[in-house]
Amino acid sequence: MTKENATSREGFTSKFGFIMSCIGSALGLGNIWMFSYKLGAYGGAAFLIPYFLFVFILSTTGLITEFTFGRYFKAGSYIGINTLFKKRNLKSGKIIGLLPTLGITGIFIFYCIVVGWVLKYFALSITGKISTIDTQTYFSNFSGTSSSIPWFLLAVVITLLIVISGVAKGIERLNKIVLPILFVIFIFLMFKSLSLEGAMEGVRYLVIPRWEVLLNAKTWIMALGQAFFTVSLTGCGMVVYGSYINKDFDIPTSSLQTAIFDTLAALLASFIIIPAVFAFNIAPDSGPSLLFITVPKVFQSMPYSSVISSLFFLSIIFAAISSSVSMLEGPVETLLSATNLTRKKATILVSVVCFLLGLPLAVNIGMFGQFADFITIVLSPIGVLIVAICFFYLFDKKTLLKAVNQGSKHPVGSWFVPLGKYVFVTTTILVIILGLIYGSIG
Ligand code: PFF
Repeated sequence: MTKENATSREGFTSKFGFIMSCIGSALGLGNIWMFSYKLGAYGGAAFLIPYFLFVFILSTTGLITEFTFGRYFKAGSYIGINTLFKKRNLKSGKIIGLLPTLGITGIFIFYCIVVGWVLKYFALSITGKISTIDTQTYFSNFSGTSSSIPWFLLAVVITLLIVISGVAKGIERLNKIVLPILFVIFIFLMFKSLSLEGAMEGVRYLVIPRWEVLLNAKTWIMALGQAFFTVSLTGCGMVVYGSYINKDFDIPTSSLQTAIFDTLAALLASFIIIPAVFAFNIAPDSGPSLLFITVPKVFQSMPYSSVISSLFFLSIIFAAISSSVSMLEGPVETLLSATNLTRKKATILVSVVCFLLGLPLAVNIGMFGQFADFITIVLSPIGVLIVAICFFYLFDKKTLLKAVNQGSKHPVGSWFVPLGKYVFVTTTILVIILGLIYGSIG
């Protein structure tokens, strides 16, 4: 334990603030641009079966593991892994301990580039310009070019300003305000979308289960990748959030609540996007083109398009920034625990380095894609695996269960250990292997 950890470690001030921050981290672009597409493309309601199953397994094991690891060491994964390795006389704790931080830093870099695009589309919406553009041409002339750089910078600066304010005054406060507003906007937009003529076709596409897809391995693989990315497992961010809570916080319940609200938001996003897309007879797409080409096209055909479109992109900004702060907090915490830097200096240093490293990616979509794939398929799941192995193989069973169940009204039983040791660790290895085989599954 470092001096800083023992004496003046920051922390969440309330359970509500902690849960909002975890939901904020989990609920992000992944819920919006990937989930809606996958739900429709992989069998409608039938997709929910593997998806719920994986989210349940990953939240009951992965999230509990990461929160507990952080709370136990009162530190992020860098210090936690180091301490554990030293105790067990194992070598290379410093290098291995750094990998989860590197993974989340990589996610922060490519994520902020996309947040920059969202900021730009929000600006286009409030100025009303969104209704005049040719969405296809506009997006290809903007993304991957130098015009996106100022927006990437803005995304980094907004995140920096929140993280610099600290855990309680920055991250917790942001999430407590922004998340409830986000849900209200989502519910409003869902009713708006469902009231469009022809929307029911989209609803049918989402809810009528096509059971035969469950026989296709790809459905299960896509559900696994989606679930893994959405609960924000990296072996770093959620460990750091866990290190900011005390022994009264109920980790198993918080993990489940995070998964439930994250899934709810993903379902809401699907019922906003897909019915509207069907109402205007446009084919649903995935990823960037869904958000920046298809959806703006839908808005163009609606009355009050700039108001609806502004609300939509504002809610995505809220979802994305509440995730990006959890990413930046990862390397900032590592730096704070390993050096004597102040939070202000550490946050600025990490942000500047990430911005500079992101510049070549911001102007080259091919490189951006390769980088994002490497991070999400290889580096980040390796970070998850490291923490999972440390937790389930280097802790003794009694200590592990005691650490998980401290403060819990619904303590987990001893079944938790084999579930983590075999099911969770194997699932994480599978995510890496399948990601390498299929290119990208998240
Ligand atoms: N869960 C976020 C999303 O679905 O967009 C992404 C994410 C956030 C991944 C935070 C990792 C992380 F640490």
